[in-house]
Amino acid sequence: MAGPLKIISRAKPLVAAAGKPALRFPSKPAAPVPGKPAVGAKPAVGAPAARFPLKFKKPSLRFVPKGSQPPPKKDEPFSSKRYELRRVINEGGMGTIYQAWDTMLGMDVALKMLRPEIAKDAESVAQLKSEASVAMKLSHENIVRLHNIEIEKEHIFIVMEYVEGQTLRAIIQDMGPLALEAVLDIAHSCSSALSYAHERGVLHRDIKLDNLMINSGMTLKLLDFGIALKVARGHDQSEFLEGSPGYMSPEQLHGLPVDARTDVFSLAVVLCELLTGLRTFPNVDDLHHMYDTPPMGIETIPAPVADVLRKGLALDAGERWPTVHQFYHAFEQALKPLI
Ligand SMILES: Nc1ncnc2c1ncn2[C@@H]1O[C@H](COP(=O)(O)OP(=O)(O)OP(=O)(O)O)[C@@H](O)[C@H]1O
Ligand SMILES: [Mg+2]
Repeated sequence: MAGPLKIISRAKPLVAAAGKPALRFPSKPAAPVPGKPAVGAKPAVGAPAARFPLKFKKPSLRFVPKGSQPPPKKDEPFSSKRYELRRVINEGGMGTIYQAWDTMLGMDVALKMLRPEIAKDAESVAQLKSEASVAMKLSHENIVRLHNIEIEKEHIFIVMEYVEGQTLRAIIQDMGPLALEAVLDIAHSCSSALSYAHERGVLHRDIKLDNLMINSGMTLKLLDFGIALKVARGHDQSEFLEGSPGYMSPEQLHGLPVDARTDVFSLAVVLCELLTGLRTFPNVDDLHHMYDTPPMGIETIPAPVADVLRKGLALDAGERWPTVHQFYHAFEQALKPLI
């Protein structure tokens, strides 16, 4: 099957020849499926709603002309012959993300500057190098390209493809829950990228709304593939976790061996959040009881789709969909008749 996002990006560019926007993300779920009344505060997810174009209106996404940005502050002890920092994009668990200009190749890149305590930790650096060398071999249209790891003096930074667009976190904060077609498009792109990587023995291990972006060509991009490091997370930052609270599988949380089913769990959390607009597991400050409550808002999702998601969210990996491909297939079968 040709993926919906692929068809859209090929046949329907964001601004079509006639000047009309192409891929539109309907923002609101519509009426519940007959016979499946919605429960809970949020409206049920059901038939398609009115559509409107996805607009990139975040000020952080303004184009920054080369040379217009002040140089890095003196106390920002970073200088590189090759990369000119343009602006801070955001702070993440592992460090700060910059938009930078690669003077050698003449293109924008994103630099993830590791926090000093991670950069000084020999074990983390060794792990990062070995994982990045594997992740760098991935080449897929839905996976953000990892270019390199650079070490300059005491600084370690990851150089990757720069994505001009928005994270799914920002999109649902702006638009609320997405309509079924949009979620199916996203699920298709995610599963295609994850299946591709899993076949090559690479797990993502940190699928969450912040690591999924839609670029200005309306293509979904998975960020941070295979480079999840153990960093301080949780309420008091005392627990060192690989992955993100509220998205990581229970086996990952407990430091047990993981396989493709860990990404199945996190993808199920993401899809649930896209359909409900709610945090599936909001209790992230209490790592040990995070998954004690049922997935938030799942009862508002049409039952066949919710059943597929529940199997993806099984706390015991043995009860989950064994592969992302099987999960996506079941999700599509359950969701398509409702569109
Ligand atoms: N390659 C990129 N291009 C454009 N923006 C990016 C890129 N990578 C990250 N970002 C932006 O920076 C934000 C922070 O990313 P970062 O990966 O540091 O943190 P995170 O995803 O929130 O947490 P984690 O450390 O667990 O990955 C992202 O949410 C996204 O908005
Ligand atoms: Mg990230």
